[in-house]
Amino acid sequence: MTIKLATVQFCPALGDVKKNIASLKPLLDKAKEADLVVLPELANSGYNFRDRKQALEFSEDPQNSLFVDFLAGYAAANNNTVVTGFNERAGNDLYNSALVINGNGIIGKYRKIHLFWNEKDIFLPGDLKPEVYETAGVRFGLLICFDWIFPELWRALALKGVDLICHPSNLVLPGKAQKAVPVQAMMNRVYIATANRTGTEGNLTFTGNSIIADPEGNVIASASPASEEVLFADVDTEKSRNKMATPRNHIFNDRRPEFYF
Ligand code: ACM
Repeated sequence: MTIKLATVQFCPALGDVKKNIASLKPLLDKAKEADLVVLPELANSGYNFRDRKQALEFSEDPQNSLFVDFLAGYAAANNNTVVTGFNERAGNDLYNSALVINGNGIIGKYRKIHLFWNEKDIFLPGDLKPEVYETAGVRFGLLICFDWIFPELWRALALKGVDLICHPSNLVLPGKAQKAVPVQAMMNRVYIATANRTGTEGNLTFTGNSIIADPEGNVIASASPASEEVLFADVDTEKSRNKMATPRNHIFNDRRPEFYF
């Protein structure tokens, strides 16, 4: 089974969901042939909030969201699925979330488990275990940005049987995740799509360089540091379900967990 994957790199405006929808329209139009489209972290709201109060003001309830309605309309029109980062209001709580959206609306949600730096003042840490979703025969999971530094999560999703990990991001440490992602793809023999953002908000500059890595650890698509662009790649389950590193080494069956901790 092979599907077409796209990642969208763009520059969200802080606190302006209508502008973000307008910026995404032409990019999503370019990506409409893809079966699965991945957008950056916090794509509805931007990232660098002054404080929790401002983050709350710029958040949305996913059940009553212009941004979700826009993406569900796009997915319905193009018969595809979108993964997006989302500033999620849940009552009076905030989560740095990722949503899976198709023409029927939201079909999946993950809340960032490992909060980065000042996110700890704003969001609650995620309280949902990463799940496996499926589209057109391809199984995928979600991680968000700084989750990248915890190898346990990549491995946990790979052991659950995903072919692909979608990784909405707002990366600010230049080049670091871009080194780790192909290695995690190789070590778990999965595809990884890191959809990063561009631009500067206050003292933070986001580093672009979105990448897609394949199960051999090759970077099969990469974006520039600062421009808005769409990357495409094929995801082939024959490659992601072959867990043999050599003819005699299955990367999961050869594990010796009884020696690890
Ligand atoms: C990050 O987790 N947004 C760096």
